[in-house]
Amino acid sequence: MAREFTSVGVVGLGTMGAGIVEVFARNGVDVVAVEISEAALERGRANLTGSTDRAVAKGKLAEADRDALLGRVNFQVGLAALHAVDLVIEAVPERLDLKQRLFAELDRVCKPEAILATNTSSLSVTEISVATTRPNQVIGIHFFNPAPVMKLVEVVRTVVTSADVVADVEALCARLGKVDVTINDRAGFIANALLFGYLNNAVGMLEARYASREDIDAAMKLGCGLPMGPLALMDLIGLDTAYEILDTMYRRGGRDRRHAPVPLIKQMVTAGLLGRKSGRGFYTYERPGSPKVVPDEQTPVATEAALVDGARAIAKIGIVGSGTMATGIIEVFARAGYEVVSVTRGAEKSAKVREAVKTSLNKGVVRGKLSEADRDAVLGRITWSASLEHLADVDLVVEAVVEELSVKKALFASLDEICKPGVVLATTTSSLPVIDLAMATQRPADVIGLHFFNPAPVMPLVEIVRTIRTSAETTATARAVCAELGKTGVVCGDRSGFIVNALLFPYLNDAVKMLEASYSTADDIDHAMKLGCGYPMGPFELLDVVGLDAALAIQRELYLELREPGFAPAPLLEHLVTAGYLGYKSGRGFRDHTHR
Ligand SMILES: NC(=O)c1ccc[n+]([C@@H]2O[C@H](COP(=O)([O-])OP(=O)(O)OC[C@H]3O[C@@H](n4cnc5c(N)ncnc54)[C@H](O)[C@@H]3O)[C@@H](O)[C@H]2O)c1
Repeated sequence: MAREFTSVGVVGLGTMGAGIVEVFARNGVDVVAVEISEAALERGRANLTGSTDRAVAKGKLAEADRDALLGRVNFQVGLAALHAVDLVIEAVPERLDLKQRLFAELDRVCKPEAILATNTSSLSVTEISVATTRPNQVIGIHFFNPAPVMKLVEVVRTVVTSADVVADVEALCARLGKVDVTINDRAGFIANALLFGYLNNAVGMLEARYASREDIDAAMKLGCGLPMGPLALMDLIGLDTAYEILDTMYRRGGRDRRHAPVPLIKQMVTAGLLGRKSGRGFYTYERPGSPKVVPDEQTPVATEAALVDGARAIAKIGIVGSGTMATGIIEVFARAGYEVVSVTRGAEKSAKVREAVKTSLNKGVVRGKLSEADRDAVLGRITWSASLEHLADVDLVVEAVVEELSVKKALFASLDEICKPGVVLATTTSSLPVIDLAMATQRPADVIGLHFFNPAPVMPLVEIVRTIRTSAETTATARAVCAELGKTGVVCGDRSGFIVNALLFPYLNDAVKMLEASYSTADDIDHAMKLGCGYPMGPFELLDVVGLDAALAIQRELYLELREPGFAPAPLLEHLVTAGYLGYKSGRGFRDHTHR
Protein backbone atom coordinates (compact mmCIF):
# COMPACT_ATOMS: atom_id res chain seq x y z
CA MET A 1 0.00 0.00 0.00
CA ALA A 2 1.43 3.36 -0.98
CA ARG A 3 1.56 5.97 1.72
CA GLU A 4 -1.31 8.51 1.81
CA PHE A 5 -0.11 12.08 1.59
CA THR A 6 -2.88 14.20 3.10
CA SER A 7 -0.84 17.26 3.82
CA VAL A 8 2.36 18.48 2.18
CA GLY A 9 4.63 21.47 2.65
CA VAL A 10 6.23 23.59 -0.07
CA VAL A 11 9.14 25.85 0.85
CA GLY A 12 9.91 28.80 -1.42
CA LEU A 13 7.05 30.21 -3.50
CA GLY A 14 8.95 31.59 -6.48
CA THR A 15 8.71 30.47 -10.09
CA MET A 16 8.58 26.77 -9.23
CA GLY A 17 7.29 26.67 -5.66
CA ALA A 18 4.06 28.53 -6.44
CA GLY A 19 3.41 26.17 -9.36
CA ILE A 20 4.07 23.12 -7.19
CA VAL A 21 1.62 24.40 -4.56
CA GLU A 22 -0.97 24.72 -7.33
CA VAL A 23 -0.36 21.15 -8.53
CA PHE A 24 -1.01 19.71 -5.07
CA ALA A 25 -3.96 21.93 -4.16
CA ARG A 26 -5.62 21.23 -7.51
CA ASN A 27 -5.46 17.55 -6.73
CA GLY A 28 -7.12 17.85 -3.34
CA VAL A 29 -3.99 17.82 -1.17
CA ASP A 30 -3.71 20.33 1.69
CA VAL A 31 -0.59 22.46 1.38
CA VAL A 32 1.38 24.46 3.89
CA ALA A 33 3.13 27.06 1.73
CA VAL A 34 6.16 28.60 3.39
CA GLU A 35 8.27 31.64 2.58
CA ILE A 36 11.10 33.44 4.25
CA SER A 37 9.39 36.77 4.98
CA GLU A 38 5.96 38.43 4.87
CA ALA A 39 6.93 40.30 1.70
CA ALA A 40 8.09 37.09 -0.04
CA LEU A 41 4.94 35.34 1.13
CA GLU A 42 2.80 38.03 -0.49
CA ARG A 43 4.76 37.65 -3.73
CA GLY A 44 4.27 33.88 -3.54
CA ARG A 45 0.55 34.29 -2.94
CA ALA A 46 0.38 36.66 -5.93
CA ASN A 47 2.23 34.10 -8.08
CA LEU A 48 -0.37 31.48 -7.19
CA THR A 49 -3.45 33.67 -7.55
CA GLY A 50 -2.07 35.12 -10.80
CA SER A 51 -1.75 31.62 -12.25
CA THR A 52 -5.15 30.38 -11.03
CA ASP A 53 -6.85 33.59 -12.19
CA ARG A 54 -5.35 33.09 -15.65
CA ALA A 55 -6.67 29.51 -15.65
CA VAL A 56 -10.16 30.80 -14.74
CA ALA A 57 -9.99 33.50 -17.43
CA LYS A 58 -9.03 30.84 -20.01
CA GLY A 59 -11.97 28.68 -18.94
CA LYS A 60 -9.66 25.93 -17.71
CA LEU A 61 -10.70 26.19 -14.07
CA ALA A 62 -14.13 26.95 -12.60
CA GLU A 63 -14.29 29.84 -10.12
CA ALA A 64 -15.60 27.53 -7.40
CA ASP A 65 -12.72 25.13 -8.02
CA ARG A 66 -10.24 27.97 -7.82
CA ASP A 67 -11.69 29.04 -4.49
CA ALA A 68 -11.56 25.47 -3.19
CA LEU A 69 -7.97 25.20 -4.45
CA LEU A 70 -6.90 28.39 -2.67
CA GLY A 71 -8.79 27.26 0.44
CA ARG A 72 -6.47 24.25 0.68
CA VAL A 73 -3.37 26.43 0.94
CA ASN A 74 -2.16 27.64 4.30
CA PHE A 75 0.40 30.46 3.74
CA GLN A 76 2.99 30.79 6.49
CA VAL A 77 6.31 32.49 7.21
CA GLY A 78 8.91 30.16 8.72
CA LEU A 79 9.44 26.42 8.74
CA ALA A 80 7.75 25.74 12.11
CA ALA A 81 4.40 25.46 10.32
CA LEU A 82 5.63 22.24 8.67
CA HIS A 83 5.69 20.09 11.81
CA ALA A 84 2.70 17.91 10.86
CA VAL A 85 3.07 17.45 7.07
CA ASP A 86 3.81 14.07 5.44
CA LEU A 87 6.09 15.45 2.75
CA VAL A 88 8.00 18.68 2.17
CA ILE A 89 9.17 19.87 -1.24
CA GLU A 90 11.76 22.55 -1.22
CA ALA A 91 11.99 25.10 -4.07
CA VAL A 92 14.37 27.73 -2.73
CA PRO A 93 17.17 29.18 -4.89
CA GLU A 94 19.61 26.75 -6.48
CA ARG A 95 22.50 27.00 -3.98
CA LEU A 96 23.90 24.01 -2.13
CA ASP A 97 24.74 25.82 1.13
CA LEU A 98 21.25 27.27 1.31
CA LYS A 99 19.56 23.95 0.63
CA GLN A 100 21.78 22.07 3.10
CA ARG A 101 20.96 24.55 5.87
CA LEU A 102 17.29 24.32 5.00
CA PHE A 103 17.29 20.52 5.10
CA ALA A 104 19.06 20.45 8.47
CA GLU A 105 16.31 22.72 9.77
CA LEU A 106 13.51 20.70 8.13
CA ASP A 107 14.97 17.58 9.72
CA ARG A 108 14.56 19.19 13.16
CA VAL A 109 11.08 20.58 12.51
CA CYS A 110 9.32 17.80 10.58
CA LYS A 111 7.90 14.62 12.07
CA PRO A 112 10.28 11.65 11.89
CA GLU A 113 8.40 9.77 9.17
CA ALA A 114 8.05 12.79 6.86
CA ILE A 115 9.71 12.59 3.45
CA LEU A 116 11.94 15.54 2.58
CA ALA A 117 12.17 16.30 -1.13
CA THR A 118 14.12 18.81 -3.18
CA ASN A 119 13.11 20.33 -6.48
CA THR A 120 16.75 21.02 -7.33
CA SER A 121 17.57 20.99 -11.04
CA SER A 122 21.26 20.31 -10.82
CA LEU A 123 22.57 19.99 -7.28
CA SER A 124 23.44 16.64 -5.74
CA VAL A 125 20.42 15.23 -3.88
CA THR A 126 22.91 13.04 -2.02
CA GLU A 127 24.84 16.05 -0.73
CA ILE A 128 21.59 17.69 0.33
CA SER A 129 20.41 14.49 2.05
CA VAL A 130 23.45 14.15 4.30
CA ALA A 131 22.58 17.45 5.96
CA THR A 132 19.74 15.50 7.66
CA THR A 133 19.63 12.54 10.02
CA ARG A 134 17.32 10.73 7.59
CA PRO A 135 19.07 10.56 4.22
CA ASN A 136 17.05 7.46 3.33
CA GLN A 137 13.90 9.64 3.40
CA VAL A 138 15.37 12.33 1.16
CA ILE A 139 14.54 12.30 -2.54
CA GLY A 140 14.49 14.59 -5.58
CA ILE A 141 11.10 15.48 -7.04
CA HIS A 142 11.95 17.61 -10.01
CA PHE A 143 8.98 19.38 -11.53
CA PHE A 144 9.11 21.27 -14.83
CA ASN A 145 8.21 24.84 -15.52
CA PRO A 146 5.31 25.70 -15.52
CA ALA A 147 4.60 22.96 -12.97
CA PRO A 148 0.80 22.92 -13.44
CA VAL A 149 1.23 22.39 -17.19
CA MET A 150 4.24 20.14 -17.75
CA LYS A 151 3.45 16.47 -17.29
CA LEU A 152 6.91 15.20 -16.39
CA VAL A 153 8.41 14.69 -12.95
CA GLU A 154 11.93 13.36 -12.55
CA VAL A 155 12.11 11.32 -9.36
CA VAL A 156 15.73 11.26 -8.21
CA ARG A 157 16.84 8.50 -5.88
CA THR A 158 20.21 8.55 -4.19
CA VAL A 159 22.14 5.45 -3.22
CA VAL A 160 20.53 5.59 0.22
CA THR A 161 16.95 6.60 -0.61
CA SER A 162 14.78 3.73 0.61
CA ALA A 163 12.80 1.77 -1.97
CA ASP A 164 9.53 2.46 -0.08
CA VAL A 165 10.08 6.19 -0.31
CA VAL A 166 10.72 5.92 -4.06
CA ALA A 167 7.57 3.83 -4.56
CA ASP A 168 5.46 6.21 -2.43
CA VAL A 169 6.64 9.23 -4.37
CA GLU A 170 6.04 7.48 -7.70
CA ALA A 171 2.47 6.70 -6.62
CA LEU A 172 2.02 10.32 -5.55
CA CYS A 173 3.15 11.56 -8.98
CA ALA A 174 0.55 9.31 -10.62
CA ARG A 175 -2.12 10.73 -8.29
CA LEU A 176 -1.10 14.24 -9.38
CA GLY A 177 -1.60 13.21 -13.01
CA LYS A 178 2.12 13.38 -13.73
CA VAL A 179 4.35 10.96 -15.61
CA ASP A 180 7.49 10.15 -13.68
CA VAL A 181 10.86 8.88 -14.73
CA THR A 182 12.95 7.55 -11.87
CA ILE A 183 16.67 8.08 -12.19
CA ASN A 184 19.88 8.21 -10.21
CA ASP A 185 21.47 11.33 -8.83
CA ARG A 186 23.47 12.95 -11.63
CA ALA A 187 23.95 16.62 -12.52
CA GLY A 188 21.00 17.85 -14.55
CA PHE A 189 19.24 14.46 -14.43
CA ILE A 190 17.82 13.74 -17.89
CA ALA A 191 16.10 16.84 -19.21
CA ASN A 192 18.33 19.61 -17.90
CA ALA A 193 21.49 17.71 -18.80
CA LEU A 194 20.23 17.79 -22.40
CA LEU A 195 18.63 21.22 -22.28
CA PHE A 196 21.13 23.53 -20.67
CA GLY A 197 24.04 23.05 -23.06
CA TYR A 198 21.62 24.05 -25.80
CA LEU A 199 20.32 27.09 -23.91
CA ASN A 200 23.85 28.26 -23.10
CA ASN A 201 24.87 27.76 -26.73
CA ALA A 202 21.92 29.92 -27.84
CA VAL A 203 22.90 32.71 -25.44
CA GLY A 204 26.44 32.44 -26.81
CA MET A 205 25.07 33.05 -30.32
CA LEU A 206 23.30 36.16 -29.12
CA GLU A 207 26.34 37.40 -27.23
CA ALA A 208 28.48 36.95 -30.36
CA ARG A 209 25.80 38.85 -32.33
CA TYR A 210 25.54 35.86 -34.58
CA ALA A 211 21.79 36.41 -34.87
CA SER A 212 19.13 38.52 -33.15
CA ARG A 213 17.12 37.24 -30.17
CA GLU A 214 13.94 37.12 -32.28
CA ASP A 215 15.69 35.20 -35.04
CA ILE A 216 17.30 32.65 -32.70
CA ASP A 217 13.97 31.98 -31.03
CA ALA A 218 11.99 31.90 -34.28
CA ALA A 219 14.52 29.49 -35.79
CA MET A 220 14.10 26.91 -33.04
CA LYS A 221 10.34 27.28 -32.85
CA LEU A 222 9.73 27.08 -36.58
CA GLY A 223 12.65 24.84 -37.54
CA CYS A 224 12.15 22.26 -34.76
CA GLY A 225 8.56 22.81 -33.64
CA LEU A 226 9.60 23.71 -30.09
CA PRO A 227 6.99 25.42 -27.93
CA MET A 228 9.29 28.37 -27.29
CA GLY A 229 12.68 29.61 -28.37
CA PRO A 230 15.73 29.18 -26.11
CA LEU A 231 15.95 32.84 -25.03
CA ALA A 232 12.25 33.06 -24.20
CA LEU A 233 12.73 29.84 -22.23
CA MET A 234 15.68 31.32 -20.33
CA ASP A 235 13.38 34.21 -19.37
CA LEU A 236 10.75 31.75 -18.15
CA ILE A 237 13.26 29.71 -16.14
CA GLY A 238 14.79 32.85 -14.64
CA LEU A 239 18.33 33.91 -15.50
CA ASP A 240 19.55 33.67 -11.90
CA THR A 241 18.27 30.10 -11.64
CA ALA A 242 19.65 29.25 -15.08
CA TYR A 243 23.04 30.65 -14.07
CA GLU A 244 23.16 28.53 -10.92
CA ILE A 245 22.09 25.41 -12.81
CA LEU A 246 24.75 25.90 -15.50
CA ASP A 247 27.40 26.67 -12.93
CA THR A 248 26.58 23.53 -10.93
CA MET A 249 26.41 21.39 -14.04
CA TYR A 250 29.79 22.71 -15.12
CA ARG A 251 31.34 21.84 -11.78
CA ARG A 252 29.55 18.52 -11.26
CA GLY A 253 29.31 17.38 -14.85
CA GLY A 254 32.97 17.03 -15.74
CA ARG A 255 33.75 20.69 -16.45
CA ASP A 256 32.24 20.59 -19.90
CA ARG A 257 32.89 24.07 -21.30
CA ARG A 258 29.47 24.06 -22.88
CA HIS A 259 28.01 24.39 -19.39
CA ALA A 260 30.27 27.24 -18.33
CA PRO A 261 27.70 30.04 -18.18
CA VAL A 262 28.10 32.49 -21.06
CA PRO A 263 29.31 35.78 -19.48
CA LEU A 264 26.24 37.66 -20.71
CA ILE A 265 24.05 35.63 -18.32
CA LYS A 266 25.99 36.76 -15.26
CA GLN A 267 25.94 40.36 -16.46
CA MET A 268 22.18 40.25 -16.89
CA VAL A 269 21.69 38.71 -13.44
CA THR A 270 23.86 41.42 -11.88
CA ALA A 271 21.84 44.05 -13.73
CA GLY A 272 18.62 42.58 -12.31
CA LEU A 273 17.42 41.32 -15.68
CA LEU A 274 16.17 37.97 -14.40
CA GLY A 275 13.54 37.24 -17.02
CA ARG A 276 9.78 37.22 -16.64
CA LYS A 277 9.86 37.38 -12.87
CA SER A 278 11.62 40.76 -12.87
CA GLY A 279 9.77 42.03 -15.95
CA ARG A 280 12.86 42.03 -18.11
CA GLY A 281 15.38 39.49 -19.33
CA PHE A 282 16.21 38.83 -22.96
CA TYR A 283 12.78 40.32 -23.65
CA THR A 284 10.74 42.99 -21.88
CA TYR A 285 7.43 42.00 -20.24
CA GLU A 286 4.34 44.02 -19.49
CA ARG A 287 5.16 43.89 -15.77
CA PRO A 288 7.10 41.59 -13.44
CA GLY A 289 5.63 38.08 -13.56
CA SER A 290 3.68 38.72 -16.74
CA PRO A 291 4.06 36.32 -19.69
CA LYS A 292 3.25 39.14 -22.14
CA VAL A 293 6.19 40.46 -24.16
CA VAL A 294 6.07 44.17 -24.99
CA PRO A 295 8.20 45.92 -27.62
CA ASP A 296 11.48 47.47 -26.50
CA GLU A 297 14.41 49.17 -28.22
CA GLN A 298 15.64 45.85 -29.66
CA THR A 299 12.32 44.91 -31.23
CA PRO A 300 12.72 44.96 -35.01
CA VAL A 301 10.41 47.18 -36.99
CA ALA A 302 8.12 44.73 -38.72
CA THR A 303 6.34 47.00 -41.15
CA GLU A 304 6.16 46.06 -44.79
CA ALA A 305 8.08 49.19 -45.74
CA ALA A 306 10.93 48.19 -43.41
CA LEU A 307 11.02 44.70 -44.91
CA VAL A 308 11.48 45.85 -48.48
CA ASP A 309 13.73 48.77 -47.61
CA GLY A 310 16.75 48.49 -49.89
CA ALA A 311 15.56 45.24 -51.47
CA ARG A 312 15.92 44.67 -55.20
CA ALA A 313 12.85 43.91 -57.28
CA ILE A 314 12.53 40.17 -57.89
CA ALA A 315 10.11 38.71 -60.41
CA LYS A 316 11.84 35.79 -62.09
CA ILE A 317 13.62 33.01 -60.22
CA GLY A 318 16.02 30.37 -61.45
CA ILE A 319 16.20 27.14 -59.46
CA VAL A 320 19.04 24.73 -60.15
CA GLY A 321 18.82 21.09 -59.10
CA SER A 322 16.52 18.10 -59.29
CA GLY A 323 16.40 16.65 -55.78
CA THR A 324 13.88 16.88 -52.95
CA MET A 325 14.86 20.39 -51.96
CA ALA A 326 14.88 21.81 -55.50
CA THR A 327 11.48 20.25 -56.17
CA GLY A 328 9.97 21.74 -53.02
CA ILE A 329 11.51 25.15 -53.65
CA ILE A 330 10.22 25.29 -57.23
CA GLU A 331 6.73 24.69 -55.85
CA VAL A 332 7.12 27.31 -53.13
CA PHE A 333 8.18 30.06 -55.56
CA ALA A 334 5.69 29.21 -58.28
CA ARG A 335 2.84 29.08 -55.78
CA ALA A 336 3.82 32.49 -54.45
CA GLY A 337 3.33 33.89 -57.96
CA TYR A 338 6.93 34.12 -59.17
CA GLU A 339 7.95 33.14 -62.65
CA VAL A 340 10.27 30.14 -62.26
CA VAL A 341 12.95 28.66 -64.50
CA SER A 342 13.91 25.16 -63.37
CA VAL A 343 17.30 24.00 -64.60
CA THR A 344 18.37 20.36 -64.31
CA ARG A 345 21.09 18.30 -65.94
CA GLY A 346 18.96 16.86 -68.74
CA ALA A 347 15.47 16.33 -70.10
CA GLU A 348 14.97 13.14 -68.12
CA LYS A 349 15.65 14.86 -64.83
CA SER A 350 13.44 17.78 -65.82
CA ALA A 351 10.58 15.40 -66.51
CA LYS A 352 11.12 13.78 -63.11
CA VAL A 353 11.06 17.08 -61.25
CA ARG A 354 8.05 18.24 -63.21
CA GLU A 355 6.18 15.06 -62.24
CA ALA A 356 7.16 15.49 -58.60
CA VAL A 357 5.93 19.09 -58.53
CA LYS A 358 2.71 18.04 -60.26
CA THR A 359 2.14 15.19 -57.80
CA SER A 360 2.64 17.51 -54.87
CA LEU A 361 0.27 20.12 -56.32
CA ASN A 362 -2.31 17.43 -57.05
CA LYS A 363 -2.21 16.43 -53.40
CA GLY A 364 -3.11 20.02 -52.60
CA VAL A 365 -6.04 19.80 -55.01
CA VAL A 366 -7.27 16.52 -53.45
CA ARG A 367 -7.07 18.06 -49.99
CA GLY A 368 -9.05 21.07 -51.19
CA LYS A 369 -6.17 23.47 -50.56
CA LEU A 370 -5.69 24.40 -54.20
CA SER A 371 -8.17 24.66 -57.07
CA GLU A 372 -7.45 22.91 -60.36
CA ALA A 373 -7.24 26.29 -62.05
CA ASP A 374 -4.67 27.48 -59.52
CA ARG A 375 -2.66 24.32 -59.98
CA ASP A 376 -2.59 24.89 -63.72
CA ALA A 377 -1.63 28.53 -63.21
CA VAL A 378 1.24 27.47 -60.90
CA LEU A 379 2.49 24.95 -63.46
CA GLY A 380 2.11 27.58 -66.18
CA ARG A 381 4.56 29.82 -64.36
CA ILE A 382 7.34 27.21 -64.51
CA THR A 383 9.72 26.80 -67.47
CA TRP A 384 11.67 23.52 -67.59
CA SER A 385 15.18 23.66 -68.95
CA ALA A 386 18.39 21.67 -69.08
CA SER A 387 20.64 24.63 -69.77
CA LEU A 388 22.05 27.22 -67.41
CA GLU A 389 21.88 29.69 -70.31
CA HIS A 390 18.21 30.08 -69.52
CA LEU A 391 19.17 31.86 -66.32
CA ALA A 392 20.52 34.88 -68.22
CA ASP A 393 17.57 37.10 -67.32
CA VAL A 394 16.42 35.85 -63.91
CA ASP A 395 16.57 38.14 -60.84
CA LEU A 396 17.40 35.49 -58.28
CA VAL A 397 19.01 32.06 -58.57
CA VAL A 398 18.49 29.43 -55.88
CA GLU A 399 20.99 26.62 -56.13
CA ALA A 400 19.95 23.25 -54.65
CA VAL A 401 22.34 20.74 -56.22
CA VAL A 402 24.31 17.98 -54.50
CA GLU A 403 26.06 18.93 -51.22
CA GLU A 404 29.60 18.90 -52.64
CA LEU A 405 31.82 21.93 -52.53
CA SER A 406 33.54 21.37 -55.90
CA VAL A 407 30.23 20.92 -57.71
CA LYS A 408 28.68 23.99 -56.13
CA LYS A 409 31.77 26.12 -56.73
CA ALA A 410 31.83 25.22 -60.42
CA LEU A 411 28.14 26.04 -60.64
CA PHE A 412 28.60 29.45 -59.03
CA ALA A 413 31.46 30.22 -61.41
CA SER A 414 29.14 29.42 -64.35
CA LEU A 415 26.30 31.49 -62.89
CA ASP A 416 28.72 34.38 -62.59
CA GLU A 417 29.37 34.19 -66.33
CA ILE A 418 25.77 33.70 -67.38
CA CYS A 419 23.61 35.83 -65.09
CA LYS A 420 22.96 39.53 -65.60
CA PRO A 421 24.46 42.02 -63.14
CA GLY A 422 22.51 42.64 -59.93
CA VAL A 423 21.18 39.10 -59.64
CA VAL A 424 21.08 37.60 -56.16
CA LEU A 425 22.82 34.23 -56.17
CA ALA A 426 21.62 31.99 -53.36
CA THR A 427 22.65 28.56 -52.14
CA THR A 428 20.54 26.14 -50.10
CA THR A 429 23.59 24.44 -48.61
CA SER A 430 23.11 23.21 -45.07
CA SER A 431 26.75 22.61 -44.24
CA LEU A 432 29.18 24.22 -46.68
CA PRO A 433 30.64 27.70 -46.12
CA VAL A 434 28.69 30.16 -48.25
CA ILE A 435 31.79 32.35 -48.56
CA ASP A 436 33.52 29.59 -50.57
CA LEU A 437 30.74 29.80 -53.14
CA ALA A 438 30.74 33.60 -53.08
CA MET A 439 34.45 33.66 -53.83
CA ALA A 440 33.93 31.40 -56.85
CA THR A 441 32.25 34.44 -58.43
CA GLN A 442 33.37 37.98 -59.22
CA ARG A 443 30.36 39.29 -57.25
CA PRO A 444 30.57 37.99 -53.69
CA ALA A 445 28.38 40.85 -52.41
CA ASP A 446 25.43 39.31 -54.29
CA VAL A 447 25.84 35.82 -52.85
CA ILE A 448 23.83 34.60 -49.88
CA GLY A 449 22.51 31.41 -48.30
CA LEU A 450 18.80 30.57 -48.33
CA HIS A 451 18.54 27.48 -46.18
CA PHE A 452 15.10 25.97 -46.63
CA PHE A 453 13.87 23.12 -44.47
CA ASN A 454 12.43 19.86 -45.72
CA PRO A 455 9.64 19.66 -46.91
CA ALA A 456 10.03 23.19 -48.26
CA PRO A 457 6.34 23.77 -49.07
CA VAL A 458 5.44 22.97 -45.44
CA MET A 459 8.25 24.23 -43.24
CA PRO A 460 7.79 27.93 -42.42
CA LEU A 461 11.47 28.74 -41.79
CA VAL A 462 14.31 29.92 -44.03
CA GLU A 463 17.75 30.70 -42.63
CA ILE A 464 19.23 33.65 -44.52
CA VAL A 465 22.98 33.19 -44.32
CA ARG A 466 25.06 36.27 -45.00
CA THR A 467 28.80 36.04 -45.43
CA ILE A 468 31.28 38.73 -44.49
CA ARG A 469 31.07 39.91 -48.12
CA THR A 470 27.27 39.85 -48.55
CA SER A 471 25.85 43.35 -49.14
CA ALA A 472 23.05 44.83 -47.05
CA GLU A 473 21.01 45.10 -50.23
CA THR A 474 21.33 41.38 -50.93
CA THR A 475 20.28 40.56 -47.35
CA ALA A 476 17.32 42.94 -47.62
CA THR A 477 16.32 41.29 -50.89
CA ALA A 478 16.48 37.83 -49.30
CA ARG A 479 14.33 39.02 -46.39
CA ALA A 480 11.76 40.55 -48.73
CA VAL A 481 11.61 37.37 -50.83
CA CYS A 482 11.07 35.19 -47.73
CA ALA A 483 8.26 37.46 -46.59
CA GLU A 484 6.72 37.27 -50.05
CA LEU A 485 6.85 33.47 -49.83
CA GLY A 486 5.04 33.59 -46.50
CA LYS A 487 8.11 32.20 -44.72
CA THR A 488 9.91 33.52 -41.69
CA GLY A 489 13.43 34.44 -42.74
CA VAL A 490 15.99 34.52 -39.93
CA VAL A 491 19.33 36.15 -40.60
CA CYS A 492 22.53 34.54 -39.35
CA GLY A 493 26.23 34.39 -40.05
CA ASP A 494 28.12 31.92 -42.20
CA ARG A 495 29.04 29.33 -39.60
CA SER A 496 28.70 25.57 -39.52
CA GLY A 497 25.13 24.51 -38.75
CA PHE A 498 23.74 28.06 -38.94
CA ILE A 499 21.25 28.49 -36.10
CA VAL A 500 19.05 25.41 -36.12
CA ASN A 501 21.50 22.61 -36.77
CA ALA A 502 24.16 24.15 -34.54
CA LEU A 503 21.70 24.17 -31.64
CA LEU A 504 19.84 20.96 -32.43
CA PHE A 505 22.47 18.36 -33.28
CA PRO A 506 24.76 18.75 -30.25
CA TYR A 507 21.66 18.16 -28.12
CA LEU A 508 20.81 15.00 -30.08
CA ASN A 509 24.41 13.86 -29.78
CA ASP A 510 24.29 14.44 -26.02
CA ALA A 511 21.18 12.27 -25.80
CA VAL A 512 23.08 9.47 -27.52
CA LYS A 513 25.95 9.89 -25.07
CA MET A 514 23.50 9.70 -22.17
CA LEU A 515 22.05 6.47 -23.54
CA GLU A 516 25.52 5.12 -24.13
CA ALA A 517 26.41 5.83 -20.50
CA SER A 518 23.37 3.73 -19.47
CA TYR A 519 22.03 6.59 -17.38
CA SER A 520 18.54 6.10 -18.76
CA THR A 521 16.61 4.36 -21.53
CA ALA A 522 15.73 5.74 -24.96
CA ASP A 523 12.05 5.65 -23.96
CA ASP A 524 12.58 7.61 -20.76
CA ILE A 525 14.84 10.15 -22.44
CA ASP A 526 12.26 10.66 -25.20
CA HIS A 527 9.54 10.99 -22.56
CA ALA A 528 11.54 13.48 -20.54
CA MET A 529 12.06 15.85 -23.46
CA LYS A 530 8.48 15.60 -24.69
CA LEU A 531 6.72 15.84 -21.34
CA GLY A 532 9.23 18.01 -19.49
CA CYS A 533 10.13 20.45 -22.24
CA GLY A 534 7.19 20.16 -24.65
CA TYR A 535 9.31 18.92 -27.57
CA PRO A 536 7.22 17.43 -30.39
CA MET A 537 9.50 14.39 -30.58
CA GLY A 538 12.09 12.89 -28.28
CA PRO A 539 15.73 12.88 -29.45
CA PHE A 540 15.72 9.20 -30.48
CA GLU A 541 12.45 9.52 -32.35
CA LEU A 542 13.87 12.51 -34.18
CA LEU A 543 17.20 10.84 -34.93
CA ASP A 544 15.42 7.90 -36.53
CA VAL A 545 13.46 10.34 -38.73
CA VAL A 546 16.43 12.54 -39.66
CA GLY A 547 18.67 9.56 -40.36
CA LEU A 548 21.60 8.63 -38.15
CA ASP A 549 24.06 9.06 -41.02
CA ALA A 550 22.84 12.61 -41.69
CA ALA A 551 23.01 13.43 -37.98
CA LEU A 552 26.53 12.04 -37.74
CA ALA A 553 27.67 14.03 -40.78
CA ILE A 554 26.32 17.29 -39.35
CA GLN A 555 27.77 16.59 -35.93
CA ARG A 556 31.19 15.89 -37.49
CA GLU A 557 31.06 19.19 -39.38
CA LEU A 558 30.22 21.09 -36.21
CA TYR A 559 33.03 19.35 -34.35
CA LEU A 560 35.55 20.02 -37.12
CA GLU A 561 34.68 23.67 -37.55
CA LEU A 562 34.13 24.71 -33.95
CA ARG A 563 36.72 22.36 -32.34
CA GLU A 564 34.50 22.04 -29.30
CA PRO A 565 35.47 18.82 -27.50
CA GLY A 566 31.88 18.36 -26.28
CA PHE A 567 30.74 18.23 -29.92
CA ALA A 568 32.71 15.05 -30.67
CA PRO A 569 30.23 12.56 -32.18
CA ALA A 570 28.99 9.94 -29.72
CA PRO A 571 30.78 6.64 -30.40
CA LEU A 572 27.41 4.84 -30.26
CA LEU A 573 26.15 7.03 -33.10
CA GLU A 574 29.20 6.14 -35.18
CA HIS A 575 28.76 2.45 -34.45
CA LEU A 576 25.08 2.42 -35.37
CA VAL A 577 25.86 4.14 -38.67
CA THR A 578 28.66 1.67 -39.38
CA ALA A 579 26.24 -1.16 -38.63
CA GLY A 580 23.77 0.25 -41.16
CA TYR A 581 21.20 1.23 -38.55
CA LEU A 582 20.27 4.56 -40.09
CA GLY A 583 16.71 5.05 -38.82
CA TYR A 584 13.39 4.70 -40.64
CA LYS A 585 15.03 4.62 -44.05
CA SER A 586 16.94 1.43 -43.24
CA GLY A 587 14.20 -0.11 -41.08
CA ARG A 588 16.20 0.24 -37.91
CA GLY A 589 17.92 2.99 -35.99
CA PHE A 590 17.56 3.45 -32.26
CA ARG A 591 14.34 1.50 -32.62
CA ASP A 592 13.27 -1.31 -34.90
CA HIS A 593 10.79 -0.07 -37.51
CA THR A 594 10.46 -3.21 -39.57
CA HIS A 595 7.31 -4.42 -37.80
CA ARG A 596 5.45 -1.13 -37.79
N1 LIG B 1 12.90 27.96 -12.78
C1 LIG B 1 12.76 26.78 -13.32
O1 LIG B 1 12.41 26.69 -14.51
C2 LIG B 1 13.01 25.54 -12.52
C3 LIG B 1 12.52 24.31 -13.01
C4 LIG B 1 12.66 23.17 -12.22
C5 LIG B 1 13.32 23.25 -11.01
N2 LIG B 1 13.81 24.45 -10.56
C6 LIG B 1 14.47 24.48 -9.25
O2 LIG B 1 13.52 24.95 -8.31
C7 LIG B 1 14.20 25.64 -7.28
C8 LIG B 1 13.62 27.04 -7.13
O3 LIG B 1 13.86 27.77 -8.32
P1 LIG B 1 12.94 29.00 -8.77
O4 LIG B 1 13.25 29.25 -10.20
O5 LIG B 1 11.55 28.73 -8.37
O6 LIG B 1 13.56 30.18 -7.87
P2 LIG B 1 12.93 31.59 -7.51
O7 LIG B 1 14.06 32.49 -7.32
O8 LIG B 1 11.89 31.97 -8.49
O9 LIG B 1 12.20 31.32 -6.10
C9 LIG B 1 12.85 30.96 -4.94
C10 LIG B 1 11.98 31.35 -3.75
O10 LIG B 1 12.55 30.82 -2.55
C11 LIG B 1 12.37 31.75 -1.51
N3 LIG B 1 13.34 31.47 -0.45
C12 LIG B 1 14.66 31.74 -0.43
N4 LIG B 1 15.20 31.28 0.71
C13 LIG B 1 14.22 30.70 1.42
C14 LIG B 1 14.15 30.06 2.69
N5 LIG B 1 15.24 29.90 3.43
N6 LIG B 1 12.96 29.62 3.14
C15 LIG B 1 11.86 29.77 2.38
N7 LIG B 1 11.86 30.35 1.17
C16 LIG B 1 13.03 30.83 0.69
C17 LIG B 1 12.55 33.09 -2.20
O11 LIG B 1 11.93 34.12 -1.46
C18 LIG B 1 11.87 32.85 -3.55
O12 LIG B 1 10.50 33.19 -3.52
C19 LIG B 1 15.67 25.63 -7.63
O13 LIG B 1 16.28 24.55 -6.97
C20 LIG B 1 15.64 25.40 -9.13
O14 LIG B 1 16.81 24.81 -9.61
C21 LIG B 1 13.65 25.60 -11.29
